[in-house]
Amino acid sequence: MQTTDFEFKRIPAPLLSWYDKNKRDLAWRKNPTPYRVWVSEIMLQQTRVEAVKEYYDRFMRALPTIADLANCEEEKLLKLWEGLGYYSRVRNMQKTAKLVVENYGGEFPSDEKALKNLPGIGAYTVGAIRSIAFGLPAPAVDGNVFRVISRLSENPTVISEPAYRTYLERELLKIYPKQGERCSAFTQSLMELGALICKPQTPDCGVCPLKGICRAFANGTQSEYPVLPEKKSKKSERRYVFLIKTPQGVSLRKRTAGVLKGMTEFPSEPIENKTPEEILKSWGVGAFTIKNRKTFAHIFTHIKWEMVCLLVEAESAPFENRTVEEIKTQVSLPTAFRQCLSLLD
Ligand code: ADE
Repeated sequence: MQTTDFEFKRIPAPLLSWYDKNKRDLAWRKNPTPYRVWVSEIMLQQTRVEAVKEYYDRFMRALPTIADLANCEEEKLLKLWEGLGYYSRVRNMQKTAKLVVENYGGEFPSDEKALKNLPGIGAYTVGAIRSIAFGLPAPAVDGNVFRVISRLSENPTVISEPAYRTYLERELLKIYPKQGERCSAFTQSLMELGALICKPQTPDCGVCPLKGICRAFANGTQSEYPVLPEKKSKKSERRYVFLIKTPQGVSLRKRTAGVLKGMTEFPSEPIENKTPEEILKSWGVGAFTIKNRKTFAHIFTHIKWEMVCLLVEAESAPFENRTVEEIKTQVSLPTAFRQCLSLLD
């Protein structure tokens, strides 16, 4: 891990005054209770700010308090999360909500160790909750912050190196505002600069409040920082996905293994050495015809699926069969499978 002699203390003053003038008006910045900050930060780890807005508003309307989340039915919870991906995250959120209700009377602790012990809460989320909701000096180093600081200091350390995160947390902590004095704004100003100005591909250095102290800007090396880990090529798996239409509805079942374990799927199997007809027979699907087929792809974190989706009409199928309307409005179905519904159009 490389350290540099960059003077971190020159960051806060220009950055905070830029943030005051340029910060976005985002729902989770109003009334930033620990619960609201936590929910927004977990969602923001999944996807872009623009995409989070709608999910966040709907989630907060449905589950305005941590006790509501603790007591929510799994099906409803998964439906609120549908499309965001990483369903284990929302399951962990419910575990944390239950623990906070049982062990802390429904109020998040502000203590670093206590927060870190809660399911699904890592160093970043701890820093975000402590600084944004509790006003404590606590850095929250996300991808934006790695990018901003790596460019300012031209630090060549690859950002996946664990020691780099702890180094940045330590250096940032030295320059944090004092407790109760703009800790929330400082955390968010670093992220906001990364999101609005110090963008990955096309940074707007001309209007950056930190251009006077930025080594990458001075040397024209913005595209060389941050140093990202080498990309591993993703494993690809081919699957048959069966959209089985019966008089009772379209077949669904729960996945019992692999990616999306525990989630609902259209019955599917890896393409190995069985024909689609053989697979349907092995399941005990009653007299059927294959009507149509279409291929789709879905990319997960560590694997890519190429899906050959088959529209099947059958007299019966030994699965839970639900109407298309129910599938569209009530069932939580991962995006990988939901796209197959277009075969019905
Ligand atoms: N990205 C993740 N959390 C954020 C926040 N609180 N403000 C701006 N961007 C973010």
